[in-house]
Amino acid sequence: MKAINKIVCNLLFLVLLAFLIGPILKAPETKAQEHPPTALTLSGEELFIQNRCVRCHTIGRGRFVGPDLAGVEGKYPKEQIAKWIENPQKIYQASGKMPFNEGYPPMPPMNVPPAQAKAIAEYLVSYNPPKGGAASGGISGQVLNKTTGGPAAEVDLTLTSYLGDKPTDEKTIKSDEQGNFSFKALNWDRSYAVTVDFKGAQYSTDKMVFYPNEDIKILDLPIYEPTVDEDNIKIIEGQMIVQSAEGALSVADLALYSNTGDKIYVGGKELEDGRKESLRVSMPKGAQNVNFIHGITPEDVVNTEYGFADTASILPGQKRVVYAYNLPLNSGTTTFEKTIDYPTESFLLLIAQTGSSAEVKGLSGGESVQIRQESFLKWEGKDLKPGHQIKVVLKNPLAQGDYLKWGALGFLLLIIIAGVIYSTVLKKSPEQDNSTDQDEGVGDPEVQRLALIKEIAQLDDDFEAGNIVEQKYKDIRGNKIEELKMIKRRLR
Ligand code: HEC
Repeated sequence: MKAINKIVCNLLFLVLLAFLIGPILKAPETKAQEHPPTALTLSGEELFIQNRCVRCHTIGRGRFVGPDLAGVEGKYPKEQIAKWIENPQKIYQASGKMPFNEGYPPMPPMNVPPAQAKAIAEYLVSYNPPKGGAASGGISGQVLNKTTGGPAAEVDLTLTSYLGDKPTDEKTIKSDEQGNFSFKALNWDRSYAVTVDFKGAQYSTDKMVFYPNEDIKILDLPIYEPTVDEDNIKIIEGQMIVQSAEGALSVADLALYSNTGDKIYVGGKELEDGRKESLRVSMPKGAQNVNFIHGITPEDVVNTEYGFADTASILPGQKRVVYAYNLPLNSGTTTFEKTIDYPTESFLLLIAQTGSSAEVKGLSGGESVQIRQESFLKWEGKDLKPGHQIKVVLKNPLAQGDYLKWGALGFLLLIIIAGVIYSTVLKKSPEQDNSTDQDEGVGDPEVQRLALIKEIAQLDDDFEAGNIVEQKYKDIRGNKIEELKMIKRRLR
């Protein structure tokens, strides 16, 4: 765990910077534009939904991942219910039993602040569940073809039911002439995802659960005509951040892709395994330990001669991708090249300035800039064409990056990083990570989960306080939720 973390931490600082630099260089005053309602203005029911209790509990609609909470007031005094919500660990310690209810997994710590826990407990105690509502949930809506602007008739829709992360059932129907669809008689004790298959592309919703009083969910599902023409794919901004670490170079790449057309780009070129290359990502020769941090699912990646290909189709609109890798560092001169893959409106290269000198061809600049108390050499390029080469020559080996000094970026930044640390560690080497967990006990998934939940709460607070811009907040939060899911899988 330690060894991995050091390298990973380092990558993370780079990535973190990638997240931060955009806003810093462009709009130093950027603040959250829109604040979610603060926790205290929410009702008990809203808090029950917002704190994700609905992912595991129904109230009077049957056993789910956790027990049905109807009648919980007959089982415990109100303070005890609040204790469950604040921190189930207290219940486990006091009772010496974990799980407390037979046949259930332990409840994860939800880290709900006491005032909110109290409000949720009040809500649970006073809630009157509707009578006789088994298997009467519905998910319906319309499939819309956003390319033609009309309804999508006769497309296949699949509803997958989940208990926790386990798919338990699948049901396929077709949309009608108007693109309408309806799944009926659904149980409350499941979460659901709808997948649409259309002309070789797949569209999936997130997993959904029914809220305490909700019977019908209505969704509009947009789909698009496919295209194999990549003319509409470009990079709005690319960033590459380089630092030395552990005798290697750590590189973080961030790209904001845009599909400016109104069709989904499904990839033109067929790869060896039969899948289609939808994004071509060139990496310098010798790149190792690639970590997909954001926007790319490792299962969709195919390694290629030039780097890697992503095979996930690209929806109209924007897509942010972050990944990091290592390059070998020579004791004398280290040279590497980066090839631009798509028309790129702006490209930024930052090299951590640790007493070294660097020469860059294919970009202009080279001046020293300060970003959050760290020195970087900065190069830029505008309107770069595909095939454009950027060549970097590092004259003296860079001095070792100082992780601790990076830590001075402050508490907020640490929170952001932490979210990525987990995802990187887990994505990189789950097995290895697992075995060290057992040796040291530090990587205990339950502990990580607790930490992660705390971080999410902290992140929410920071967003509420206006310390973090909305898009970044959403991105990071999304990552953390993904992470929680992964930890959950490991717990099983
Ligand atoms: C990841 C799933 C999950 C989430 C999310 C979750 N719980 Fe639980 N909860 C459980 C499980 C599983 C149990 C049973 C644990 C045990 O018996 O040790 C449980 C037990 C409880 C109990 C005690 C029930 C009983 O009959 O003994 C209460 C009360 C409770 N949860 C409330 C909540 C509230 C409120 C939230 C939201 C803040 C929440 N839970 C979030 C899974 C979850």
